Amino acid sequence: MELLSVACLCLLTWSGVTSADERGPVVVTEGSDAVLQCSLSTKQNIEKELFDWKKDFQKEVFLYDAGKHYNNGREGQDEQFKGRVSHFQDELKHGNASIIIRNTKVADSGNYTCDFPRLQPRQTFHIELVVGGILKDRRNESIPGAAQKPYVTTLKTKDGMLLQCEVYGAFPKPTVEWKDSAGNIIPANELQVSERERGGGYDIILQATVTKTDTFRCVVTQQDIDHQIYAETYVALSPLSREGFSTGSIVAAVLVTFFLTVIGCLVLVRVRHRIR
Ligand SMILES: *[C@@H]1O[C@H](CO)[C@@H](O)[C@H](O)[C@H]1NC(C)=O
Ligand SMILES: *[C@@H]1O[C@H](CO)[C@@H](O)[C@H](O)[C@H]1NC(C)=O
Repeated sequence: MELLSVACLCLLTWSGVTSADERGPVVVTEGSDAVLQCSLSTKQNIEKELFDWKKDFQKEVFLYDAGKHYNNGREGQDEQFKGRVSHFQDELKHGNASIIIRNTKVADSGNYTCDFPRLQPRQTFHIELVVGGILKDRRNESIPGAAQKPYVTTLKTKDGMLLQCEVYGAFPKPTVEWKDSAGNIIPANELQVSERERGGGYDIILQATVTKTDTFRCVVTQQDIDHQIYAETYVALSPLSREGFSTGSIVAAVLVTFFLTVIGCLVLVRVRHRIR
């Protein structure tokens, strides 16, 4: 146990957990761990006491009652926190009822209370947790309206390659962008943006013309729900067509050069003839 909590602390330090300030909120990014601090100023032993952590005054986060708690058989913990919250056993004798929430989710953001209802006088501590979301593919989180993988098609034109990206039924309205492999945004045309009836989301078609060989990515972002998804396509264009030369103009140039040479030779032959 001793060794485990030491290892745990090292891991915490390493993963950059933000601890509570007396005032400000605890701010972490989604997926990391958060320590919510709660300590009695008397530093009295609370191993035989009861303390209860709630989120927004209603959800049961963690309850400890004289050794019995949610991780050793006690019922009643909110589904959202099952298997992710622990107290620090060795800290109890110093009046420290802090908890750690592992693998935080954006939905964990809120106002937490740490309550000692049986103490005289009763003690309650408030602490705010803010979990910042990161952009990622959230299709498996069953968020209604999260964009599916876009459809990507290509069409060879005289100017290069026309890339088309189609997104259907996304809500809230996503931003759709074409990017090259270096991540640069390519100038593009929003060909169509339409909103379906009865909350069916947005349909968007985006086109861009590219003139170099690269892997291009159509990136669909819904910032409000931290959802991002993309589809890729590899485009191969010959270096000549990049410069704007067509095979036709090369043939023409060769022919012109050939005839000029022939005419030049003929003129030279006639001039020599005359001199003689
Ligand atoms: C309470 O315990 C936690 C976890 O070990 C620690 O980070 C925190 O500093 C402790 N608080 C106090 C006031 O000692
Ligand atoms: C927490 O409470 C503060 C002050 O009452 C409030 O401004 C804030 O919006 C609350 N945070 C959340 C996530 O509910």
